[in-house]
Amino acid sequence: KAIYEEINQYNVASKEELEQFRMRFISRKGVITELFDGLKTVPADDRRALGQELNGLKNFAQERFDLFSQQVEEQQTSANSAPPVDLTLPTIPNLTGTQHPLSLVRQRIIQIFERIGFNVADGPEIESDWYNFGALNFPDNHPARDMQDTFFVAKDSSNPSNDMLLRTHTSNVQIRLMERQKPPIRSIMPGRVYRNETISARAHCMFHQVEGIYIDRNVGFKDLKDTLYHFVKEMFEPGTQIRFRPSYFPFTEPSAEIDISCQICGGKGCNICKHSGWVEIAGSGMVDPQVIANCGIDPEEFTGFAFGMGIERITQLKYVVNDLRLYTENDVRFLRQFEGL
Ligand code: PHE
Repeated sequence: KAIYEEINQYNVASKEELEQFRMRFISRKGVITELFDGLKTVPADDRRALGQELNGLKNFAQERFDLFSQQVEEQQTSANSAPPVDLTLPTIPNLTGTQHPLSLVRQRIIQIFERIGFNVADGPEIESDWYNFGALNFPDNHPARDMQDTFFVAKDSSNPSNDMLLRTHTSNVQIRLMERQKPPIRSIMPGRVYRNETISARAHCMFHQVEGIYIDRNVGFKDLKDTLYHFVKEMFEPGTQIRFRPSYFPFTEPSAEIDISCQICGGKGCNICKHSGWVEIAGSGMVDPQVIANCGIDPEEFTGFAFGMGIERITQLKYVVNDLRLYTENDVRFLRQFEGL
């Protein structure tokens, strides 16, 4: 009875366990054989009945063994029928993201200027009229304040300087820096800016700038030129031409726009440079003394220059991006091209 019980509780899940079962109950050294051997010592009268019972037990053990064998066999073949692992197959591609081209170029611009002593400054994207325009000498009726260009967030009828808007350039950070820091000031300010433009291949209502400012004693136009020559040399192909073209900004005097020889056609003429061979990459100039004074710094003692450029434009020239919309459409076929740069 104890052996019936034991067999009933037996569970066989592997070849090894099957073998254990066989050794214990089936083999000639097993417990059942042992019991058969014991029959000899039983009185002849009882031997027949006991022998029949032992035969029943033996058959029971055999049935179980057959069943377990079959189960183990089935397990084995189903494991074998699974396709073999091919160790030469390529792994599943690792779908991590890539750096956005605008981030790559922003990082590069920051790196170039940090190496020549500029630090990075930051400021609000939602700004008052004063910091975006007023302090920068924009006359009250300047068209840039017009609803066409600027996204106004809130109007203040009692004081238009407090009108709130989405900044149209990162020059607001220059004002905030000069207000709270004494010269020398040597900073760049990368950031997002907004202008009310219809989205097309050439314009977007949101884009990125890096502006820079250097205020100290005896900073002159030569320093401006040296700094921007250095930047262009570091950023673009060797042999890139650069030219300064007189221009106008309310907050700089004199002002200049900076053109470089077209990176796409090498100056021969293409659609990007509109067949002129030159593309504008930045605005710049000597900070107007009035702007310096607006921030509580003495313009008699301190002078400086400022510049500003669009990251989208620099990226376009560096990587031949012919449609601004590509930057914001998140098409991975576009974005993946910048992998590993
Ligand atoms: N703030 C100007 C713009 O957004 C760029 C600029 C900056 C020009 C500094 C001159 C000096 O167009």
